[in-house]
Amino acid sequence: MSASLDNFTIVIFGAGSDLASRKLFPSIFQLARWGHMPPSFRVIGVGRQETGHEAFRWSVRERLMEHFPEAAGDTERLDTFCRSLFYVRVDLDDPVGYEVLHDEIMRQEEAAQACRNLMFYLSIPPSLAPAVVRNLGAAGLGGRERSCTGWRKLIAEKPYGQDLESARELNRVIDEVFDESQVYRIDHYLGKEPVQNIMVFRFSNGIFEPLWNRQYIAQVMITIAEDFGIRGRGGYYEEAGLLRDIIQNHGLQLLAAIAMEPPVDLDADSIRDEKSKILRSVRRFTPDSVRDSVVLGQYEGYLAERGVAPDSTVETFAAVKFYIDNWRWSGVPFYMKAGKNLAKSVTEIVITFRCPPQNYYGSYGGAACSTPNQVVLGIQPDETVAIRFGAKRPGEEMITDPVYMKFDYRSTFQSEGLTPYHRLLLDAIEGNQMNFIRRDSVEHSWSIIDSLKDSINGQVPELYPVHSWGPESSRIYG
Ligand code: BG6
Repeated sequence: MSASLDNFTIVIFGAGSDLASRKLFPSIFQLARWGHMPPSFRVIGVGRQETGHEAFRWSVRERLMEHFPEAAGDTERLDTFCRSLFYVRVDLDDPVGYEVLHDEIMRQEEAAQACRNLMFYLSIPPSLAPAVVRNLGAAGLGGRERSCTGWRKLIAEKPYGQDLESARELNRVIDEVFDESQVYRIDHYLGKEPVQNIMVFRFSNGIFEPLWNRQYIAQVMITIAEDFGIRGRGGYYEEAGLLRDIIQNHGLQLLAAIAMEPPVDLDADSIRDEKSKILRSVRRFTPDSVRDSVVLGQYEGYLAERGVAPDSTVETFAAVKFYIDNWRWSGVPFYMKAGKNLAKSVTEIVITFRCPPQNYYGSYGGAACSTPNQVVLGIQPDETVAIRFGAKRPGEEMITDPVYMKFDYRSTFQSEGLTPYHRLLLDAIEGNQMNFIRRDSVEHSWSIIDSLKDSINGQVPELYPVHSWGPESSRIYG
């Protein structure tokens, strides 16, 4: 446990949210069990519901049992954890409740006779975020306040804004109340082990990086497929759609990790500088370019989901062709395909290399060469790195077959590792911003998505059958 963690309080805005139930409380409880939290650790849940500390403790206990059944077998720690939970009712856009929150924190400080280290976690719809940050500032709880020695940090969940304008406004408001060094914009994909491995794979090995450019790479394909629908989040999905839910953040962050230049060093800002440059270089869309670069889809039955408008044209699938206009990647297509209710759940990145100059061994499936080399980075469910190459099929004929050399994270390291939320919460506590998105990158990502949405204006998504690979016309995207 780090010394900086004494007297630590996490304040969760949206304590009743799906994310808090499924990810935050289980992760925080686990971290406490593993000894990463000090005995004086507290969680303050903030929400609109009229409820007290005791009722809140019971509700968290029940949610933990549901989403982290192991908790039931550790009643002693569960009891201790629940005793560290408190609740404050706040109407998020009304400054009055923040005074009550302030008083609760002061009460905890008096009880501990020490300043609290405060982490404010926003697990709320993006439209509410500016008001919450403003109200924290007005109640004297902002990060720029220097009345106490404890640190103050803000973690903001995605979606971070709804478009470039709202993201800029949120950044502006945050900047008034917190210093950028105290702000952690979370994208849980950046906490996944195989995503963190992308940089390690590229920059700790001598054999790949010399080939990692337009001269040797023909295309990159990023797939983020899920075999389930919107899981009851109709209201959210109607506002977000897949482009905002997946592509703007997870998809573009994967693209940036694959395409970035080597950083000067491993300092958080050195890495984030390079990612930001890539997002800046992604070619923006125009009404002309979207015609052959974007296919949107909606799964059959989406309109019957709870909270969805009967005539909704929200997309649950997108296939997009990106280009990065810089020296390394000019002319190389980066395909991205993501969707709900697809044939299977898989997230992977396939880097396909150019064919050798001579095709001696006959074409495979009509390709320009028999087996173009590929590096396949499996993110989930398989956490793997595979290299595909051609090998001679045994026998008299000179025919090649594609074969794979594969590294599997779990069987090699015999470890499940930390989940993304464990890792990112620890990083934020420790003050390591490397895997959090910086202000400029958020704005670049939104500017890409805004250009796409503006250009596509009015295009109705194509229907696709549940458990297929998306609309027919997206097949050209691989
Ligand atoms: C979330 C999206 O950010 O990521 C969900 O809102 C999506 O729609 C989820 O299902 C996928 O994350 P993971 O790690 O569960 O695959």
